[in-house]
Amino acid sequence: MDIRIITGSIQESDADAIVASLFEGMAAPGEAVSALDQALNGAITDLIASGDFDGSAGQVAVLYPRGAISARRVIVIGLGPQEACDSEVVRRAAAEAALRARNLKVQRMATMLHGVGGGALSAEASASAIAEGTLLALYVYNGRKPEGETGPQILELCVPDTRESFAVQEAVDQVVAIATSVALTRDLVNRPPNLCTPAYMAEVATRIGDEVGLRVQVLERGQMQALGMGALLAVAQGSETPPRFIIMEHNASRADELDSIVLVGKGVTFDTGGYSLKTAQGMATMKSDMAGGAAIIGAMRAVGALNLPLHVVGLVPTADNMISGRSYRPQDVVTASNGVTIEVTNTDAEGRMLLADALVFAGRFKPAAVVDIATLTGACVTALGAVAAGLFSTSDNLQKVLLSAAEATGERLWPLPLYPEYEKRLESAVADLKNSPGASTPFSGVGVSASFLKRFTDYPAWAHIDMAGMAASEHAEVPYTPKGATGYGTRLLVAFVRLWAQGAHA
Ligand code: BES
Ligand code: MN
Ligand code: ZN
Repeated sequence: MDIRIITGSIQESDADAIVASLFEGMAAPGEAVSALDQALNGAITDLIASGDFDGSAGQVAVLYPRGAISARRVIVIGLGPQEACDSEVVRRAAAEAALRARNLKVQRMATMLHGVGGGALSAEASASAIAEGTLLALYVYNGRKPEGETGPQILELCVPDTRESFAVQEAVDQVVAIATSVALTRDLVNRPPNLCTPAYMAEVATRIGDEVGLRVQVLERGQMQALGMGALLAVAQGSETPPRFIIMEHNASRADELDSIVLVGKGVTFDTGGYSLKTAQGMATMKSDMAGGAAIIGAMRAVGALNLPLHVVGLVPTADNMISGRSYRPQDVVTASNGVTIEVTNTDAEGRMLLADALVFAGRFKPAAVVDIATLTGACVTALGAVAAGLFSTSDNLQKVLLSAAEATGERLWPLPLYPEYEKRLESAVADLKNSPGASTPFSGVGVSASFLKRFTDYPAWAHIDMAGMAASEHAEVPYTPKGATGYGTRLLVAFVRLWAQGAHA
């Protein structure tokens, strides 16, 4: 989609559809809309007076103008209460408008900047949210067109004040880079598991590295053996499809002068559970078990494209968790790359095995902070549903920056505790720790998994994001997230790196 900044008032547009917005409960259109209403001979006033439209969030009405207006249609969207209007509200409203426009086979749409007049948003913030909501809503897997529909090709953002158009253009360019990266993440997660193999993930990472200027290295099994990555390799050994360890680096040559941030993502390309086999229903969605890794590849694409002023490293340990005569078993004891021995009590607790070796590897970069993201536990889905990811952190500052990033992007995080009792549950008689406590007495599956990971971290600040409930959307409740892969984590991590670069952690 081509996004253009135009100056002038929306009623002069001759687009296939123009988009206007209203706050909830306004008796008459606000300042920004009244000029349009006048040009429409009061059609918006009539719409409100009819009682059919009160401006609540998610409402959409379509008007067909006569006379003074050249545009074919006016799409009116509700923003909800004025005092609650923020970027997320505008992102969602813009998504609703874009989806309606696609249904109406609109090719060129023009929009006013929602929430600016009388609202809380700057022109830049509104334009960014509109561009983002629109691009994310119109995503289709692999760029496939839904039957007979091509979707709008042009979006014109009407900026009333010419002096603002430069800043708006810059903000929109950045949003385009980020939304393209989210589409990449979604494409990876949507891709079937026979095609989205560890080798394929590595191929994409390498191509992205060339595209945006990252140093990308891919380790194969032999190199992982040399590094003693016994935990990752134990998971990988049951599959015909060999594992990869992907290292993506932005500003690699400036590592000495810049703060280093390491981002780690779980890349299990399919999780059968291994010999601790999942049920058919349990494994039905497990192609998305690499969504954390895909979020890292997407986020690194954006970090490179935006050229953020930090040394940022993305690590993706990636493997299948399968059954065969070579698979790892319950009661195996394996040694991770830091020498810590692990008793495998459950082969379905495989994500933490991959992450253990990746978190050890992260230490090489002397990072100021490490953040990992993973579809790690069903327990986190039980706790938070498909509404927020769980957040664990050893640093209040790091947690604070991540929560700000969640707030800014609408990719929700909810803090959970790292109580020492959870670690106790992992004591083993035959190794340094077990990978899962078993279900003998009540325990927090999500807390225990985070405590397991913590044993492999050795840096000033670490955070773990459990996004098990967030990888894919069944119902498309969020209008800018179509059914299927959400791309969760990509925008969140980019916002996090940006905030860190701005000194938000100090
Ligand atoms: N990939 C799963 C977690 C998961 C479950 C993600 C549901 C998305 C939806 C993970 O590898 C897993 O199997 N976790 C086990 C851990 C248990 C064996 C300690 C779980 O949550 O049941
Ligand atoms: Mn599993
Ligand atoms: Zn898994």
